[in-house]
Amino acid sequence: MKKHIQSLLLVSPVSLLIAGCASVKVDDFDSIQKYTLTNENGMVVKITNYGATITSIQVPDRDGTMADVALGYNDVSDYINAVDRPYFGSVVGRYGNRIGKGEFTIDGESYQVSLNNNGNHLHGGFMGFDKIVWSAEVLKDGIKLSYLAKDGEEGYPGNLALSVVYTLTNQNEIVMHYQASSDKATPVNVTNHTYFNLAGEGSGSINGHQLQIHSSVYTPVDAGLIPTGELRQVAGTPFDFRSAKPIGRDVEADDKQLKFGLGYDHNWVLDRKGPGMELAATLYEPNSGRVLEVYTEEPAIQFYGGNFLDGRLIGKSGKVYAHRTGLCLETQHSPDSVNQPSWPSVILRPGETYDTTSIYKFSTNPLITQ
Ligand code: GLA
Repeated sequence: MKKHIQSLLLVSPVSLLIAGCASVKVDDFDSIQKYTLTNENGMVVKITNYGATITSIQVPDRDGTMADVALGYNDVSDYINAVDRPYFGSVVGRYGNRIGKGEFTIDGESYQVSLNNNGNHLHGGFMGFDKIVWSAEVLKDGIKLSYLAKDGEEGYPGNLALSVVYTLTNQNEIVMHYQASSDKATPVNVTNHTYFNLAGEGSGSINGHQLQIHSSVYTPVDAGLIPTGELRQVAGTPFDFRSAKPIGRDVEADDKQLKFGLGYDHNWVLDRKGPGMELAATLYEPNSGRVLEVYTEEPAIQFYGGNFLDGRLIGKSGKVYAHRTGLCLETQHSPDSVNQPSWPSVILRPGETYDTTSIYKFSTNPLITQ
């Protein structure tokens, strides 16, 4: 496997407007870099240490034609300035997904984290991990990105030392290994927010992709997309992806949950056999034959269907990112778990190591035709 530092991104050190919050000075531009991982099959994955962001994933279709299946930009200043902050390709945290009213209690101590999403907390707040320049270390078979989040940052307790190692294997897998430790008990729920379009970024709707999620229950939400606490059976609902089906089949069904999410923007609790790495979801695009399998050690997955993409963002190849032209499969603990004591714990305590891996494996299916 080859890998190399491809280029230094040149961005002038000025104040830049971050959507959803005030003008923020990003003064660490000199250390922003791009890395390229390639494997024996010609698969190429590009990463920047700004937000630990995957900026490009080039994989072959069933005829060997390459396409970039990850939405994103060419220039880091576009990531910094993106309208409505889509979190293209980045690591989100310290708590990925939402915390209701940004409030939680640990060991009798109450905390208020920043409210950056309609009175709730989303993806770590105004300066979440997607807005941070991470330290980078080139490893033998991948890239290690590290960040020390300070005690009190965005309201979270504890200095959190976090790393993610991205590895590209010759089996066309992107392996994402996260590790963290903290000097105070703190909630941690990091995930990667890549938007996939297996026909190629900018090539149109993802509604024809077929999706299978190995889950019998999902977490219904309120109008602010905070789980109500109920675990609802998917059987007989538009949320039933236990067998593969085109995403567009039920997305416009008359369903209150779909109205809240403007489509699919929900969390499925995986039907696990036990702890460890298991297949969570399979995505298939019939025209190209490209397949993405998502494996994880996490208990749940957020399927977000790109409902907030509205055509205002222009991607790296000059194409408009219209409504539902990319989708995220975010391995994680369910949103607001920090306020749901009966759900798997998201609290990392001093002396413990947060350690979780997810794998995004690409292949093609030559047998199934539309
Ligand atoms: C997520 C959330 C969505 C939305 C996107 C970013 O995955 O679930 O509601 O906020 O991030 O646009």
